[in-house]
Amino acid sequence: MSEVGKPLGKDLVGLEGLSADQLRMILDTAEPFKEISERRIKKVPVLRGKTIVNLFFEASTRTRISFEFAEKRLSADTVNISSTGSSVAKGETLVDTARNLEAMRIDMVVIRHGASGAARFLAERIPSNVINAGDGWHEHPTQGLLDLLTIRDRMGRIEGLRVCIVGDIKHSRVARSNIYGLRALGAEVAVCGPRTLLPPAPEELGCRVFSRVEEAIEWADVLNVLRLQLERMQAGYVPSLREYNRIWGVSTARLEAAPRDILVLHPGPMNRGVEIDSDVADGPHSVILNQVTNGVAVRMAVLYLLAGGQPERAEAAKEGGEA
Ligand code: CP
Repeated sequence: MSEVGKPLGKDLVGLEGLSADQLRMILDTAEPFKEISERRIKKVPVLRGKTIVNLFFEASTRTRISFEFAEKRLSADTVNISSTGSSVAKGETLVDTARNLEAMRIDMVVIRHGASGAARFLAERIPSNVINAGDGWHEHPTQGLLDLLTIRDRMGRIEGLRVCIVGDIKHSRVARSNIYGLRALGAEVAVCGPRTLLPPAPEELGCRVFSRVEEAIEWADVLNVLRLQLERMQAGYVPSLREYNRIWGVSTARLEAAPRDILVLHPGPMNRGVEIDSDVADGPHSVILNQVTNGVAVRMAVLYLLAGGQPERAEAAKEGGEA
């Protein structure tokens, strides 16, 4: 993975296999970049002259827009491509699409795709840097990183914390990236959800398992609540939305029964009244919008590092330098 002179290597396909030092380096690099988004003129020349293609084959609000903000605030030139409106709709393959983009001399590709492994497939076939913006059930590494940054901001550390991921773990790329990142940084990780929505052997991912959300809440310092993908209900994984909320929903009453103040994350988009009640989503435990804000800084850090920027120069770079 590692390329000479590039602290993060060529691509970011997942958090699996990244060391604690690499994860800390990304989070630490994101810190100085936070301030750019608070300026009146939100632009620095760090990635001036770089061309970045955002290739989104699945719907996205947070990831697509925050990548675009991160790129524009670092002065990269960006192009957005979706499957509808491009020649993908005429049957052009992923690799042919990417090779045509390469022929126009691009530097980086940010890809979201429904197939697990799509980001790695592309990374192995094109010289541009590839960043995975979510591939199938596999990983969503920048979501994992922004979750880590948000937890660290609020709790002051990650090591030793107890983090429980609640909901559809089996089909969740967010869960997988969280598990890899949190465990590498020394957190204890648990999962909680209907048996039908847990992977076959969660213990093999290093997670303990709670069958009742009340037990998870009693144990945890942090809950990361995942969206119940509504198509799972149609496929018979859960009996009904009302039933899911009654058994698994994170509510104020359940949080008030906890022995400690719990931090609540959710990657979005939320189903209010299903996996999370509105008064929790908008209440004092919630850091859901902080996650979104941190998403821009984390993505700036990843772009900077993959472009060859040195972590110790991030502060100076944002004050006028280039990566
Ligand atoms: N968290 C997340 O990936 O949201 P989007 O699907 O809106 O990008």
